[in-house]
Amino acid sequence: MIFTLTINPSLDYVVDCSNFSLGKVNRTCSERIFAAGKGINVSVVLSNLGIKNTAIGFTAGFTGREIERRLDLMGICTDFIELKAGESRINIKLRTTDGNLQNAAAEETEINARGPCIDGGAVECLLEKLAGLSRGDFLVLAGSVPPSVPQSFYADCMAGLLAKEVNVVVDAEQKLLLEALKFSPYLIKPNQHELGALFDTQILCKEDAVPYAQKLQKMGAKNVLVSFAKDGALLLDEAGSVWFCNAPKGKCINSVGAGDSMIAGFLCAVSEGLKGKAALKKAVCTGSASAFSETLATKESVEALFNSLV
Ligand SMILES: Nc1ncnc2c1ncn2[C@@H]1O[C@H](COP(=O)(O)OP(=O)(O)OP(=O)(O)O)[C@@H](O)[C@H]1O
Ligand SMILES: [Mg+2]
Repeated sequence: MIFTLTINPSLDYVVDCSNFSLGKVNRTCSERIFAAGKGINVSVVLSNLGIKNTAIGFTAGFTGREIERRLDLMGICTDFIELKAGESRINIKLRTTDGNLQNAAAEETEINARGPCIDGGAVECLLEKLAGLSRGDFLVLAGSVPPSVPQSFYADCMAGLLAKEVNVVVDAEQKLLLEALKFSPYLIKPNQHELGALFDTQILCKEDAVPYAQKLQKMGAKNVLVSFAKDGALLLDEAGSVWFCNAPKGKCINSVGAGDSMIAGFLCAVSEGLKGKAALKKAVCTGSASAFSETLATKESVEALFNSLV
């Protein structure tokens, strides 16, 4: 089974508002609401690709119940820990054009809420739940953690799983990722900027990334996937081989969740027995299929890109 962890999931409320004026009453011209968070994005894309998985993490209040209900409707199993106090977040994404500026390009303003308090007791509950994972399971740990949770959190989640041979995917930055490397993650997926920041350098092209990906492998990661947005990605695989893949060409509509989709694509490839260049190609096409769509990648959109990319 594949498990995805979203520590602080949200309901994202996306509204479009033309001729927006600050300080006035504005009316929306479209609204959309969906369950979100990096782990949840991975779950949704896995499910779209036909791969059964379970979303875990913390929820609270009526928004938490709504997140679970929406995932259930999509056929995604859920096993969240329900916190006693607070509410899961509603994040607002306000897409506007400025009524005072003619021909102004649409802008997106995000208002991200804090969410419920995740204290030491809640973390203990999660570690107990993770102790139930079995050999051969996959666990995706994606995204940042709230201030109440230590930067060793992903490493703490992994400590008890190493001996069980659970395959852990870590998509995180800085200390959260560095600490996790001690427990041999199956896959890490920094983007080019996150990789550069780890080594206090700038990564300008895929070739530049190779020595740093190799350093991360020496530090414990098995597979290292480095994403370069519209320029595709590189994979340093378990066997030490380096593979490059350009992204398919297309119009970027919404790249939020492209990295999460790429992880789902890679896990899908692994489940199909694909390796090396073929696994990378599937991962890239899944990321691009999400970037080229308002929502997240579907099986059909990924297959179309996969078959078109030479
Ligand atoms: N503009 C784009 N055009 C084509 N493909 C894209 C584009 N943006 C992203 N992708 C695809 O998605 C993959 C991951 O994108 P990116 O490097 O932006 O990840 P990320 O920064 O981790 O994203 P996030 O964390 O916001 O989900 C890329 O390797 C590529 O395959
Ligand atoms: Mg990312």
